[in-house]
Amino acid sequence: MYVCVCNGYTDKEIKTAVRENGVQTAEEAYLSLGNGFCCGTCADCANDIVSSELPFQRVLAAE
Ligand code: FES
Repeated sequence: MYVCVCNGYTDKEIKTAVRENGVQTAEEAYLSLGNGFCCGTCADCANDIVSSELPFQRVLAAE
């Protein structure tokens, strides 16, 4: 599902950025994918995705 129309980022890409790039915020996730926020319309949705994915990052980091 597309989350960010401006940058063409999907929920899967954002989740992967959290799990594999160690980002803590949506802004950091976006920057790791190439571009930060543009219009900001997607910020709430992107932050929700990052927040829901952070526990999995911690599990992977502990391994
Ligand atoms: S829709 Fe994501 S920055 Fe515009």
